[in-house]
Amino acid sequence: MEYNFTFPLLLYCSVILVPILIFLFLKPNKRSLTKLPPSPPGWPVFGHMFQLGTLPYVTMAKMKAKYGPVIWLKNGQVNTMVIQSTNAAAEFYKYHDLSFPDRLIVDTLISHNFHKSSFVFAPHGPYWRMLRRLCISSFNSKIDGDSVQVRRKCVYDMLSWIGKEAETAMIEKRGIEILDFVSLANINVIGNILFSKDLVDPNSKTGRELFEAVTGYFRWAGEPNVSDSLSWLKPFDLQGLKRNMDKDLAKALKIVSGFVKERLEEKQEGEKKQKKDLLDMLLDFEGNGINEQEKLSEHTISVFLLEMFLAGAETTTSTIEWTMAELLNNPKTLMKAKHEILKVVGKNKRFEESDIDNVPFLQAIVKENLRLHPPGPLVLRKATKDTSFMGYDIPKTTHVLINLWAIGKDPENWSDPLSFKPERFLGSNIDYKGKYFEFVPFGSGCRLCPGLQLAHRLLHLHLGSLLHEFDWELEDSFPLDMSEKMGMTVRKLKPLRAIPTKSCF
Ligand code: HEM
Ligand SMILES: *[C@@H]1O[C@H](CO)[C@@H](O)[C@H](O)[C@H]1NC(C)=O
Ligand SMILES: *[C@@H]1O[C@H](CO)[C@@H](O)[C@H](O)[C@H]1NC(C)=O
Repeated sequence: MEYNFTFPLLLYCSVILVPILIFLFLKPNKRSLTKLPPSPPGWPVFGHMFQLGTLPYVTMAKMKAKYGPVIWLKNGQVNTMVIQSTNAAAEFYKYHDLSFPDRLIVDTLISHNFHKSSFVFAPHGPYWRMLRRLCISSFNSKIDGDSVQVRRKCVYDMLSWIGKEAETAMIEKRGIEILDFVSLANINVIGNILFSKDLVDPNSKTGRELFEAVTGYFRWAGEPNVSDSLSWLKPFDLQGLKRNMDKDLAKALKIVSGFVKERLEEKQEGEKKQKKDLLDMLLDFEGNGINEQEKLSEHTISVFLLEMFLAGAETTTSTIEWTMAELLNNPKTLMKAKHEILKVVGKNKRFEESDIDNVPFLQAIVKENLRLHPPGPLVLRKATKDTSFMGYDIPKTTHVLINLWAIGKDPENWSDPLSFKPERFLGSNIDYKGKYFEFVPFGSGCRLCPGLQLAHRLLHLHLGSLLHEFDWELEDSFPLDMSEKMGMTVRKLKPLRAIPTKSCF
């Protein structure tokens, strides 16, 4: 996401001069009686919204030195508490998780009533509980068994697409964009969990369209929207975000609801399948009608399915890109990982999920990468009651950001926190299941990522396969530019390009 300050700033200044004056005259600052966390100086009306920059999690992390691990920001009208240390995160997740179980609904989500059917943003209540139950039961029943075959097929297809590219890439010394290939494979994995279907190959049209609409959606949803912070700017849609968002979301929803309709028709024709996928479970769902909906509407189901693509494919894909980038920047580590895999898998076989437990160094690499590059650097939560947190009085409706990016680099708990050193995880029992608060890339508590097990399998399967099958070489000069850009996940600013050559053992 590129964000040019001067232009919007000028625009806002002219649109809002009058409201500012009104604000200054009618609303003199009242001294609050409650004790709030320390706060850096901000502007009237805007609060800190222009101070956060293009990478807000980095800016906030920098404020820690002066204001401590828990800070208070005003994003326009929105009160926000930011949590940025291991200790504060432990306090939050262990003792106050259930006082902050909701999420703030950002304006972008209101497009197509997305927020009303959303699961990721659903308030902590019966609707959320029901979808979470369905989600976890379908992911976990699918984690072993047949789904191993499905994931293997999706990833091996990817290897052969890359293999084809590799033939010319090698001759022309031209890199490929790893992200594109990984992304297609992950969309297929999620597509199979949801509706037992391969959605894309490099030539399929529907798949491409879905891919592009979903990518577009990410772009718009990640763009900071001034209307979120200053509600009286809403009618203007200054950045044109709403228009773009509506367009892409409409496209993506249309494709996904096409799959739902197709399945409904099959059901009417009485086609029986032996295996139920998540779509079957959603269509068959019968709530108790008391605190659960009796049936889920088609729109609800489509939104939920689309959201699984957003939550599942994008996060894993960008994590794999970052890991490959770190490895290409650290050739010794890359070689060490290849050796480990070769020793375990052998020359004439491909990497399998059953190999994951036997490659501790690859596991350490995955952890170290998630510590440095959590794809969702900020967990969003919202207070549903007044809460006393670490001696502060946090009012109901306060928006909370847990800065996972900063926590993974907390110098109190990590030595040399900015370096990529997978060895630090060897012989340590720290994992990312939400119990070690110095390392919570999947969150923790009641809204812990339900895709954790699936992501664990996918990350290792992809990386193990990519490393075993090919030798990789940078197209750009060494070392790589590791700049970040923030969308719905943190991506590399410059997509990683690397030259694959078939491994010769
Ligand atoms: C590298 C991979 C992934 C990372 C780092 C990740 C991280 C996260 C984080 C930090 C949260 C918020 C937790 C909280 O609020 O405390 C979350 C929520 C969620 N994730 Fe993931 N995730 C990943 C992959 C996946 C996958 C593969 C899926 C599903 C297919 C998934 C589905 C979800 C859903 C549905 C939620 C919302 C849960 C709720 O609100 O109750 N994620 N994830
Ligand atoms: C951003 O602001 C406009 C104005 O309120 C709002 O209507 C829109 O929903 C927001 N943006 C997006 C992408 O939805
Ligand atoms: C993190 O560091 C702080 C300060 O040294 C310490 O009190 C705390 O126990 C550490 N937490 C973990 C989980 O290591």
